[in-house]
Amino acid sequence: MKSVSKEKLTEILETIASPELAEEYDSERIGFVLDMMPDEAEIKKIAVCLDVTEKVLTDAAKFKADVLICHHNPIFHPTSKIGFELSKKLKIAFDNNISIYCMHTNFDKAESGTNDALSRIVGLKDVELLKIGAVGYVEKQSLDSFAKHVSNKLKTTLVYVGENPVEKVAVCGGSCFNKDFLKIAESLNVDTIISSELKHSDVLRERENMNLIDAGHYPTENPGMESLKKQITEFQILDEENILFIHDDIDLKAVQFVG
Ligand SMILES: [Fe+2]
Repeated sequence: MKSVSKEKLTEILETIASPELAEEYDSERIGFVLDMMPDEAEIKKIAVCLDVTEKVLTDAAKFKADVLICHHNPIFHPTSKIGFELSKKLKIAFDNNISIYCMHTNFDKAESGTNDALSRIVGLKDVELLKIGAVGYVEKQSLDSFAKHVSNKLKTTLVYVGENPVEKVAVCGGSCFNKDFLKIAESLNVDTIISSELKHSDVLRERENMNLIDAGHYPTENPGMESLKKQITEFQILDEENILFIHDDIDLKAVQFVG
């Protein structure tokens, strides 16, 4: 059974997405955020996920993962208290010796990161990565048909606003419906944005200027983590069966629609 040192794994992950790319607020939250291994440890199994949920940790424990690589840091805020939900998760990690390595805003901006994967999966051409998100083109089409296409590709229900034809599209995995990203998209003359967590005020302000497609947080970021699993596999540090991608779209399943 192949194994990889902690140092080598860190080197590879930093090659895929340099920690220096992380947003300033995020810079202390990248890398081993839970380190259960001495420096000389050898890693035999790796799991990759978006969110460190109880299900993900339970699956990682069954798989006997030494390291769980995630996008969202489970200990995001500096903490002096650990509540019941977090302690339940950390207990699974402690009991099973699972270290947690976080790749967040550095991976969003990496060449083969979150936004690159999202652009590819929705079929954008001539993609340019931006400081936040990415921009590219599709064959000119109606918003209805493009929204349907995005829903199929990301395997999710979605909501959308607007009436303009679609040709130049900005994407941003996660919650990028904010003033900063909307300004960037507007300055690039995009006609359509795909992101998540669309707000009432964005809809009112932008509905005539740009099409806004809210495809959800998990569906817009998860393709990046699936691609990360493939990228790690390509380094051939471990046998393929010892690297596992774990899905848990708990946030989507928890939401119910009525009416
Ligand atoms: Fe996110």
